[in-house]
Amino acid sequence: MEEEVLFTITKEHLDTGLRGFPVGYCTTSHVDPQKGLFYRGTSILKLSTWEPVKVIYLLYYGKEGTHSEITAFEKELIKRAHLEEKVIRYILALPKEGHPMDLFASAIQIVGMFEKNLDYRENSLTLIATLPHIAALVINHHGGFGKTPPSQPELGYMENFVRLLTIPSSDKLIQVMRLFNILHYDHGGGNLSTFVGKAVGSGLQHMYGAISAAMNALAGPKHGRANQDCLEFVEMALSDLGEKATIVEVEKYIRKRLNDNKLIFGFGHAVLRVEDPRATIFYDYAKKYFPTHPLVSIALHLRTAGEKVLAENPKVSDPHANIDAISGTVLAAAGFHYPEYFTLLFGLARAVGIAIQIVYDRLEAREGKGTPIVRPKYLYKAAK
Ligand code: MLT
Repeated sequence: MEEEVLFTITKEHLDTGLRGFPVGYCTTSHVDPQKGLFYRGTSILKLSTWEPVKVIYLLYYGKEGTHSEITAFEKELIKRAHLEEKVIRYILALPKEGHPMDLFASAIQIVGMFEKNLDYRENSLTLIATLPHIAALVINHHGGFGKTPPSQPELGYMENFVRLLTIPSSDKLIQVMRLFNILHYDHGGGNLSTFVGKAVGSGLQHMYGAISAAMNALAGPKHGRANQDCLEFVEMALSDLGEKATIVEVEKYIRKRLNDNKLIFGFGHAVLRVEDPRATIFYDYAKKYFPTHPLVSIALHLRTAGEKVLAENPKVSDPHANIDAISGTVLAAAGFHYPEYFTLLFGLARAVGIAIQIVYDRLEAREGKGTPIVRPKYLYKAAK
């Protein structure tokens, strides 16, 4: 029987970042270019109204949990959500210089150094359980926001996280953090951070090392740090054009930036060919809850004018807004106006999906044998 050809590699594909090369399976989620993100076959639109732990259960077990299963799972996470005092002390000894993602990746690595039982499945759950505390320790420490209070995981996964942040909180902020968390758990297997986490795991490095590496991959401006850059872009547009800017003025602004060879942030995606449904969820949220916020009105104008202008360029394959175009604006409107920590919030969520994907790669793929070490081939090219 002839093997099905999935992809034909030509020399044109070399040095192009493996874009679109099928390399394996992803069981947790998939991204449809037209319909967007699905976790275990369920659309993100539906999942955006669920409890975070219910969504994590779905990702972890591959099925929707019953009420009693979710309650038991929640209890399991609470039981595991403990960081030893000495681990906390090492995290708080990290230098404050550098981007918060440097500290986050290091903190995860530190937690791994004290883990006695290096089992991928066990570690994935414990990591998921302790991530909100690790993230809050890093943010409070790096930002000089004050001493992190004791963790109270029984308050709820994101409720505890927001309470651990020593910044003014509100029900709206908790709601936005929950939504942000759910929308960022997973995005197929091919995005850089997931691929890196899986690749590092393929060398049989432990879960914490693989996730730490994945967080470094996420930290780059072409990947996770785009959400920070996007809010800074929306803020710049607001300061350049003022609160009362009309859509016509925003369109002119975009055209001028493009003419001056300057970047427009928050548009396009490697896979999607429509507006990112995660962005649509956040735009709808922003219109409903923060309709008069100046950042929201500029972000809404950028959404419309950006797509219009970019669509005129035949070289742009996806002129639509992505989630980063609006997620930071919603966080800022809800009271979390700290763009420097947006990528860390992305990492706090994405580590969940990556950890579960690593469990598949290590323990379930190829009838339980696991995937072999990642080892592609580079063609030798002699220096000229
Ligand atoms: C995303 O969440 O959009 C991704 O991680 C980026 C990607 O899929 O390449």
